[in-house]
Amino acid sequence: MCGIVGYIGSKYAAPVLVNALKKLEYRGYDSAGIAVLEDEDIVVRKVKGALKNLVENITDKVIKTSESMSESECEKREQELIQETSKYVKGTLGIGHTRWATHGEPSNVNAHPHLNEDGTIAIVHNGIVENYAKLKAWLQGEGIVFKSQTDTEVIAHTINFYYEQFGDIFQAVTASLKKLEGSYALGVLCSDYPDRIIAARKESPLIVGLGKGENFIASDVPAVLEYTREVYFLEQKEIAVLYEDHVDLFDEDGNKIIKQPYHVEWDISSAEKNGYEHFMLKEIHEQPKALHDTIHPRLVFDGEKPVDIKFDDLNFDEAFKNAGRIVITACGTSYHASVVAKYAFEKFARIPVVVDTASEFRYRNPILKKDDVFIIITQSGETADTLAALRLAKENGVRVIAITNCVGSTASREADDVIYTWAGPEIAVASTKAYTTQLACLYLLALKCADLRKTISAQEYQHNIQELYSLSDKVSEILEDKTSIQKFVSRNFNKTKIFYIGRNFDSATSLECALKLKEVSYMHSEAFAAGELKHGPIALVDESTIVVAIATQKSLYDKIASNIEEVKSRICTTLVITQKSCNRFKNDEEKVIYDEVVKVPDTEDAFAPILSVIPAQLLAYYCAVHRGMNPDKPRNLAKSVTVE
Ligand code: M6R
Repeated sequence: MCGIVGYIGSKYAAPVLVNALKKLEYRGYDSAGIAVLEDEDIVVRKVKGALKNLVENITDKVIKTSESMSESECEKREQELIQETSKYVKGTLGIGHTRWATHGEPSNVNAHPHLNEDGTIAIVHNGIVENYAKLKAWLQGEGIVFKSQTDTEVIAHTINFYYEQFGDIFQAVTASLKKLEGSYALGVLCSDYPDRIIAARKESPLIVGLGKGENFIASDVPAVLEYTREVYFLEQKEIAVLYEDHVDLFDEDGNKIIKQPYHVEWDISSAEKNGYEHFMLKEIHEQPKALHDTIHPRLVFDGEKPVDIKFDDLNFDEAFKNAGRIVITACGTSYHASVVAKYAFEKFARIPVVVDTASEFRYRNPILKKDDVFIIITQSGETADTLAALRLAKENGVRVIAITNCVGSTASREADDVIYTWAGPEIAVASTKAYTTQLACLYLLALKCADLRKTISAQEYQHNIQELYSLSDKVSEILEDKTSIQKFVSRNFNKTKIFYIGRNFDSATSLECALKLKEVSYMHSEAFAAGELKHGPIALVDESTIVVAIATQKSLYDKIASNIEEVKSRICTTLVITQKSCNRFKNDEEKVIYDEVVKVPDTEDAFAPILSVIPAQLLAYYCAVHRGMNPDKPRNLAKSVTVE
């Protein structure tokens, strides 16, 4: 959701900015632009649509010169033209932006950067200026004529207003920030200050990349990884002034502050496709490693055998022992992980669990108690609604545990305890490895909680730990043979709707399976608790429908078999995802009651969600590809939803 970049150094800024913006494409956007200081003037290029449009606009050349050019030839030419942008826009200091429209339609004029009236100050902004209407009225009263419909443009004119008053750009920016309500990550360029970029953040994420003789700003680490692994994560209301050879940091009142840079461990290859056609497919295949990296460090071994779970870096044993409830909030896929967690905590630790989407939680005056254990789940650690839920819990004196994939994210800094999913950067908008590693963390917590509360025997505890540990190999096994899913998709990708049904843990998994499919293939897809079918949804089932039954819960095989027969008799197409040893889905004549089956390795029923979601992720991916969609960049979606 909006990407910001900035560069100051000795290289030409335009190619660096466009390349860095390409690394942020996964966040989702609908227009793009750059502003570069060339001699004494700020040159702005901005266009509606993809970054390739921006490259074509700057170079005045087309990327696809003939219809027969393959995708890789187009990518190669785009790279060449990105390098050529330096011939047309020549400065070594600039800011860039990919915009995801909130106020004002996607258009050339609404694209960032935005300028003050005489074009001497340029800004890029991520976030929402909640009081923009008031500020706009004030500035219009001062005679300012606005060019765009954005909330952002008020920032450029406000900075200009204070610049005219103080004659100092830093003072002008700090004064302007105090006028803004809402959220911002900001990059500011002023032609009177050709030696610096000013950056600031509140709510929306922003990092500073520290290079040698060059420095960067960006919304996320992948944008700068090609150049440096040393970064500052800016905290709430911090301001950075970047020069070629150093960076100064300040608090909101302009007092200088010192902080240690963070060394990013992962390398550039983790943020690239490595031969896979799409990030989504790559990330699906990274799940065995991601699961191992998340689970292994949390286990205590007796020889080769895992026998215990450790959270010794955290301090929540007493909280879990004495907890009255567990409350979990999150959004989207992370919320779906919390629904699985409800089943897991209630099964193993016999503790009531309340789950809620963060967007609902924050506005319904939730009842929170001091003996609640409050968990938020967020891959990015930057989701606005989830952070609001975190802050609400803390205001109510409740201790917060964050499960996140992003070291240095706002959630990781504001929560009392942090459990990392070690999935590595997830670039595809559709979450895959983040989800399964979130489940892994939640299972570890549920088992540990059960052990602390003595709700399972030592034998059961150890057996479950060993089973959890074996899941990464079982996921590898599923990924070794994708043919039945591929064949099923090639026969059925043009059906109009897909319903996922399941019971117990499988009904929780169904939610995530349906979301995955709708996000990337745009097929109409819903999840229903199988027992609810008769209460309405079955009216929708016809020959254009696929019903996928997630059927991994042994004690409920007979129940879900009846549901499969019910929908099958409405002439729809059925796919069953079940455990390897299951042979139950046959009728009295010993004939199978489904059109296709995908079997995942046997496991404890409680852990089946980690395995049964994999075929559904693949199904979503292949449906998207067959239907000609780019699964990495679904329309209208952003990777990191940093505004409400
Ligand atoms: O970064 P978060 O986990 O907080 O993100 C929450 C949702 O926006 C996210 O899971 C979204 O639903 C994904 N696109 C799902 O694939």
